[in-house]
Amino acid sequence: MKSIEVSTESRRYPIEIEWGALRRLGPLVARLGTPGKAVLLTDRNVWDACGRTAARSLEDAGFSVTPVVRPPGEEQKCLASAAEIYDVLVDARVDRKSLLIALGGGVVGDLGGFVASTFLRGIPYVQVPTSLLAQVDSSVGGKVAVNHPRAKNLIGSFYQPTGVVIDPSLLLTLPEPDRIAGMAEVIKYGIIRDATFFRFLLEHRETLRAISDPEAIEHIIARSCQIKADVVSKDERDSGLRNILNYGHTVGHALEAVDGFGHLRHGEVVAIGMVAAAMLSSKLSLAPPGLVEDHLAILSAYGLPTSCPIRDPDAVLATMRHDKKAVHDRLRFVLATEIGNVTMAEQVPDRLVHEVLVELARRSSGPD
Ligand code: GLY
Repeated sequence: MKSIEVSTESRRYPIEIEWGALRRLGPLVARLGTPGKAVLLTDRNVWDACGRTAARSLEDAGFSVTPVVRPPGEEQKCLASAAEIYDVLVDARVDRKSLLIALGGGVVGDLGGFVASTFLRGIPYVQVPTSLLAQVDSSVGGKVAVNHPRAKNLIGSFYQPTGVVIDPSLLLTLPEPDRIAGMAEVIKYGIIRDATFFRFLLEHRETLRAISDPEAIEHIIARSCQIKADVVSKDERDSGLRNILNYGHTVGHALEAVDGFGHLRHGEVVAIGMVAAAMLSSKLSLAPPGLVEDHLAILSAYGLPTSCPIRDPDAVLATMRHDKKAVHDRLRFVLATEIGNVTMAEQVPDRLVHEVLVELARRSSGPD
């Protein structure tokens, strides 16, 4: 087992990473507080794959479990779903000593965290992420939210969990495209913070793609969580350093919104967004030659997209300006200065961004 500590101003908590951890969920969660009432929030797919195992382990450890099984899908991440879950919590007489356990991918984690942060002005919750994206990113750091009909994650808060329990063996239950999409966030950590990790990911691409080496998988999840924990511990509320975790996300989020939520996976748009960021770094002469090629090499090695058919670059630009991270409508980007290091670029000219979007679209229509 690997254990990583997240130490923020509001809370200190462990991330426990262990192959097969779900079967020991009860004892692992019991270490975080006395067993009592536990609401196990999950979705139908995760419940069918491993929910009963989780519930049994919690009950064996002395928890009294109320399962809340929601339909799967991003559209569940909304205030109406939260309201339905509040009703269940009221019926189950949940109090501030009860625990909410969010077992699932990013949607369940964000929704569960949002409900936990608001019910009774905050009840404790534990994240048990089941997708790679959730294991290396959304379950750590306490960003919890639901979507507004016009924009993702618009209604939420910073609310740290009591703990995170990660079972990498659950990745074997995922469809390959979902696993691969999650690798984009793992690669992101190498680019923003750790060139050695970047090289490890390149060298071990075959075994990592096939999930044939549990130790290697545990290592990449642990290294990703360690990097995220370090960043969040220094800047819990996104006022500076934490922005670097959004590498590739400025263009990525805009593509996600223009494309309509859901057609491209989050990791896929982040991959394309990272290529866009590398192109901008190169146009602004912030990085040595080869940065774009390094991005293309690693993303292609994992079968991630590196371009997309952008029909209307102006619409993508306009969407970027409305991103909640844009400041006074100015386009800010996290840009790499080399593999392993990034900087904030505060006022990137629209003209350059437009050029990059056109270039991405041209690349997606095939070779010259
Ligand atoms: N996913 C970016 C963050 O947690 O700040």
